[in-house]
Amino acid sequence: MNSFQFHNPTRIVFGEGAADRIGELTSSFGKKVLLVYGGGSIKKTGLYDRAVKQLNDAGITFYELPGIEPNPRLSTVNKGIGICRDNGVEFILAIGGGSVIDASKAIAAGVLYEGDVWDFFTDKAVIQQAMPIGTVLTLAATGSEMNGSTVISNWEEKLKRGAGSPHLFPRFSILDPTLTYSVPRNQTVYGSIDIMSHVFEQYFSLTENTPLQERFCESILQTVIENIEPALANPNDAAARANLMWCGTMALNGGQISLGMVNDWASHGIEHEISAIYDIPHGAGLAVVFPNWMRYVYKQRPGRFAQYATRVWGIDPAGKSEDELALAGIQATRDFYTRIGAEARLADFGIGDDQLDRMAEEAVRYGPIGNFKRLEKDDVREILRMCL
Ligand code: NZQ
Ligand code: ZN
Repeated sequence: MNSFQFHNPTRIVFGEGAADRIGELTSSFGKKVLLVYGGGSIKKTGLYDRAVKQLNDAGITFYELPGIEPNPRLSTVNKGIGICRDNGVEFILAIGGGSVIDASKAIAAGVLYEGDVWDFFTDKAVIQQAMPIGTVLTLAATGSEMNGSTVISNWEEKLKRGAGSPHLFPRFSILDPTLTYSVPRNQTVYGSIDIMSHVFEQYFSLTENTPLQERFCESILQTVIENIEPALANPNDAAARANLMWCGTMALNGGQISLGMVNDWASHGIEHEISAIYDIPHGAGLAVVFPNWMRYVYKQRPGRFAQYATRVWGIDPAGKSEDELALAGIQATRDFYTRIGAEARLADFGIGDDQLDRMAEEAVRYGPIGNFKRLEKDDVREILRMCL
């Protein structure tokens, strides 16, 4: 295990009814607020009216930025920066999934920066400060509600990039699992696969002597696997929705489950190149990429993959070599994804091989990616080819 520091400042308010505390929690940060939300799900579910009433009751003046896209766009972020500057906004309230939260974080950093906010996503500038934000999470997936990362798409240039800073941790996040009852089936599947993928990025590591971290990871994977199908069978299953929500937050909250471990993140880098061009849901892309990445890299440490197979999937090791076990665990992952309805191939989205080279090149623009196995452009292209 390597040395580490850990500090996570986000206050989590979890549970049924937590969404009744929007006004109270927001008002302690300011009286002029930017309310950021997506394409309208919060209006359909009544959450918008509920939030507006609380903001009004708390005497808060608020401006609105609706229409954050899934795979949120730089142009929309810039709109939000303008609203904040024009109106002296003091606090940003994000109500939605990871896209809404990520857009809010980018706005928060961009308002206090004189240059182009995209500089933060191209390593031209480092985030030195940001406005405070709070979130009301409506979809279990990214962990953005308790981490300092944001991922934004520059649609004109077909680029999707991440930025991170301790300044971007939300001041509070309201996690009311009942708000996720309305999440459609496919988004429930994609969100859950995103959660599992965040764990994989940390679990498949070459760092030695990390038994507690490995078990944290395995427990989240098992809990997601146990709870997806109940949530799909009954979208209002309170226990399943609560468990998925907490798994999502714990899987990517500043690296708590893998402190002292070197993480990988190559599959995320590859997926971001796919959704940058084809605008597919992030979790859908990961469902295709991850099993292929696993097949490509497992020989770096077959023992970790064999452990995954036995501990997470309960595969009987008797009579199997380490490699056979590893491959059985990878196949179990793929079979599970297929069973819950996730696409297996890029062709399922109508994606062919014409942009493979560009995607591989962009993925390694700042150098080789991944730490479990360092991937050069040819490696990425091969993994993408396996995804076709
Ligand atoms: O826009 P609305 O109308 O709200 O609909 C959304 C959207 O269409 C809908 N939805 C959300 N909550 C709902 C709901 N529909 C009904 N009922 C609800 N309660 O779901 C759709 C997808 O929402 P989105 O926010 O895009 O999904 P997700 O949370 O999966 O976020 C994906 C984005 O996060 C980035 C991804 O790359 C992608 O851009 N990521 C961010 C990370 C981070 N900040 O740490 C890490 C991740 O690895 C990821 O890269
Ligand atoms: Zn992800």
